[in-house]
Amino acid sequence: MSERARVRPAEPGDYDRIIAVVDEWWERPIRSVLPRLFLDHFHRTSLIAEDGVGLAGFLIGLMSPAESDTAYVHFVGVAPRARGEGLARRLYQGFFELAAAEHRTRVKAVTSPQNRRSVAFHTALGFTVTGPVHDYDGPGTDRMVFRLPLPPRVERERP
Ligand SMILES: CC(C)(COP(=O)(O)OP(=O)(O)OC[C@H]1O[C@@H](n2cnc3c(N)ncnc32)[C@H](O)[C@@H]1OP(=O)(O)O)[C@@H](O)C(=O)NCCC(=O)NCCS
Repeated sequence: MSERARVRPAEPGDYDRIIAVVDEWWERPIRSVLPRLFLDHFHRTSLIAEDGVGLAGFLIGLMSPAESDTAYVHFVGVAPRARGEGLARRLYQGFFELAAAEHRTRVKAVTSPQNRRSVAFHTALGFTVTGPVHDYDGPGTDRMVFRLPLPPRVERERP
């Protein structure tokens, strides 16, 4: 097992390290789906995982400006060397905490129907899976849609 990765909030400057590895981690060209704007404008709701080697994982998420109850995960990725150790689950857990703090009650994400790993991962986390939804992202671009309700945030009472 590799050294346990440390999870921290993302910063805009993390973009360059992320974009350098995504095609390799996804095993297909995916860079165009992650423009710099996601780190520039959504870094506060995104997370980075680092281990002794370097970038071990990341989650790019946002609080929907249009749907005040919804938090959305655009990308989650874990380095091949760090997979199968619960790191993506930890990144999601961190995002759920951010979402709950913003009073979000559900989390949504989408993936391509070919991404069986992503479907298996989101199912393991308890997301419902709908799809393939035909033409979701335009003609010929089907998507699987994941949804998960978040438990309501319990406000701690002051002693
Ligand atoms: C999908 C991905 C993020 C999973 O990362 P990971 O750190 O290995 O996942 P975790 O170890 O946290 O696994 C959490 C759960 O998902 C399940 N899971 C993860 N990958 C799986 C796979 N390939 N097949 C089946 N189940 C899988 C695990 O069994 C685990 O379930 P459990 O806790 O009930 O045992 C990683 O494989 C990856 O980065 N893939 C390439 C990028 C990608 O496709 N991202 C998702 C779409 S944006």
